[in-house]
Amino acid sequence: MLDESNVFIKKFIFALSGALGLLSQRISKHHQRVTHICLNLANKVKLKHTDKTTLFYSALLHDIGAFSSQDKLDIMNFEYINYQPHCEAGFQLLNKVEILREAATIVRYHHDNWDGVNNSGLNKDAIPLLSQIIHLADRIEVLINDQEEILAQNKRITKRIVSLSSIWFNPILVETFQKIASRKIFWVGLMPEFVDTIVNEFAPEDERKITIETMIEIAHVFAQVVDYKSHHSRTHCSRVTEIALKLGRGLGLSKSKLQKLWISALLHDLGKLSIPDEILDKPASLTYNEYNIIKMHPYFTYRILIAIPGFDEVAQWAFFHHEQINGGGYPLGVDADNIPLGARIITVADQFSALTEDRPYRHKLSSDEAIKIMEENARWQMIDKKILDILKQIITNKK
Ligand SMILES: [Fe+2]
Ligand SMILES: [Fe+2]
Ligand SMILES: [Fe+2]
Repeated sequence: MLDESNVFIKKFIFALSGALGLLSQRISKHHQRVTHICLNLANKVKLKHTDKTTLFYSALLHDIGAFSSQDKLDIMNFEYINYQPHCEAGFQLLNKVEILREAATIVRYHHDNWDGVNNSGLNKDAIPLLSQIIHLADRIEVLINDQEEILAQNKRITKRIVSLSSIWFNPILVETFQKIASRKIFWVGLMPEFVDTIVNEFAPEDERKITIETMIEIAHVFAQVVDYKSHHSRTHCSRVTEIALKLGRGLGLSKSKLQKLWISALLHDLGKLSIPDEILDKPASLTYNEYNIIKMHPYFTYRILIAIPGFDEVAQWAFFHHEQINGGGYPLGVDADNIPLGARIITVADQFSALTEDRPYRHKLSSDEAIKIMEENARWQMIDKKILDILKQIITNKK
């Protein structure tokens, strides 16, 4: 049951941070690896426990403000200098969530250079220490080449980092890194096969459970990350959620089911973070392969959400939001008997929102035009007619 959440904050944030790496293999472990490097540095400089905890969450979410595929790839370039927008956007997003306020500030300065000339106006020790640690860890991580054997990279990476000591990085942290880099086990821990387990194992202790309200706040943040990715649907996830909740209330769902619906609707398109923008924003029809990539997104959503304890239903409803009653949907093609009510609600809310929003290949439709198309869809058993009827009532009452 979600209403008395049993989920650790740690587990929740760790699972969702996985969504930030969905785009490509190169970035798939970026946040986890940066966290691993940060935790090693934190232990060596003997950070106190509360700072280590803040560092952990900040590192897991540090690039949350890089929205487009291009942004995500650009910031992986070691020499890239236009880092300011994603730092500021990350700050703005995380600052909305009470338990992430401190992390928000750390994220804001995570590319500030030690010797100054930063947009923030900060330099040297005026830059928060945790931001300095993430900055160093982040640049170490982008130097890793997954095509090359990991232990062989120590020399090259260390040399590059040392050359920027006192320029980009705090010299004390660079010295600390050199000590860590001399241990093979540190490098082995960066291998994509191991890094998740190791980060979980060495994560600072944090026995706090997450409240439903905070889950919803954080889900809102991730819904925005999905919405900001595309130029054409900046409010899609929040509109789907608003409509889904109205439908849920109209159908008399219990408080606990409505809470699940809330989170599931906010996060239903999380898997879209795996789709390159040139496919998502393509103004022409998609090729067979491109359409296959689109069809995978509910599965990615599921993989991220199912890792959170108690999220079986939340994950399944989101997973099935492109399934159809007649079995003709994607990605599974499951039929009426296997599509739960929560998923059917999200499907109807999703279709109505999508039809009434601009898309690269068409202008937005009016409510009446959208309903007409959806009535046709209901006739072909693609969506649930009972839920569509409630949507029609909601729209009529609004008029
Ligand atoms: Fe960054
Ligand atoms: Fe980064
Ligand atoms: Fe979708």
